[in-house]
Amino acid sequence: MVVSLNEPLDMHLHLRDAGMLDIVAPLSAETFSGALVMPNLVPPVTTKEALLSYRKRILDAVGESTFMPYMTLFFKSDYSAGFLEAVKDDILAIKLYPAGITTNSEGGVSGFDLKELAPVLDAMSGLGIPLCVHGETGGFVMDREAEFIPIYEKLAKNFPDLKIIMEHITTKEAVEALKRFENLYATITLHHLYITLDDVAGGLLQPHLFCKPIAKRPEDREALLDAALKADPKVMFGSDSAPHPKDAKEAPGCAAGVFTAPIALQALVQLFEKHDALDRLQSFVSDNAKRIYGINPPEKRVILENSPYLVPDIYEGTVVPMFAGRTLEWRVVSAG
Ligand code: NCD
Ligand code: ZN
Repeated sequence: MVVSLNEPLDMHLHLRDAGMLDIVAPLSAETFSGALVMPNLVPPVTTKEALLSYRKRILDAVGESTFMPYMTLFFKSDYSAGFLEAVKDDILAIKLYPAGITTNSEGGVSGFDLKELAPVLDAMSGLGIPLCVHGETGGFVMDREAEFIPIYEKLAKNFPDLKIIMEHITTKEAVEALKRFENLYATITLHHLYITLDDVAGGLLQPHLFCKPIAKRPEDREALLDAALKADPKVMFGSDSAPHPKDAKEAPGCAAGVFTAPIALQALVQLFEKHDALDRLQSFVSDNAKRIYGINPPEKRVILENSPYLVPDIYEGTVVPMFAGRTLEWRVVSAG
């Protein structure tokens, strides 16, 4: 049996920089037509110069591939309307991080004072620039996303023309919130469709499954699965593939992030087939994102067949993927 996917899109991707970029960007470019690239470099991407030079480094890293890096800026409440106007054609969205909530987010927002955020959000609204949000408070780790929902609602209500994307949702509360506001959308990762907190910390600790937001309860995963498998028109695939060097993961103070980009399509097909939902996968992994973001990504057709695929233990001796050393049921046979 074969499955064919057109223009697969990864609407939340960390490509990093320098040596790591050179390892991971070609892996995404192999099976994805394009991806929304996160701006949490050190320092974060906050200027037009940084944005354009990062884009060029990504294109250099993917070589001949037609892969489209859809760029984002790191949200700052002091961006001027003139600056936003000048960068709007170079970005697809702006990513807002609460200060200090995850990897390289120290320069993010604290307090969520609407008066402080309004000038930039109004300007984004007027220019049609979507807002992507890492929605977690600084509360108890299992409750951070649910506690953030009132902030999403405040944003959605006060900026009704702003498209707001709840990134990497992990809870049934977030799935519910999507239904309440027309201008709320969401990305769902691969790993949050597969795992719960039990897989991370229920037995021996699994550093390669540790990420922000942390995987939650079985009923949360069920709610995410329900939205993804029916390809709810407000959700899209965003891997949140977040590579860290092996020695930063297998260490005290393990860095947060699961590296899934090179195995994402294979594992998604496996999951959708298991749930008899293969007919919805094209929407989840591409069509919904095209419609929500109004993009027309480079043509690409990826064909997968159900034959065993042994996931590498490690890429370039540096970065360990999800399902390392395990066999998935689907392999990519062609992509072009
Ligand atoms: C991401 C990273 O490492 O950049 N980590 C993660 O656990 N997902 C940041 C993020 O998206 O939160
Ligand atoms: Zn992320």
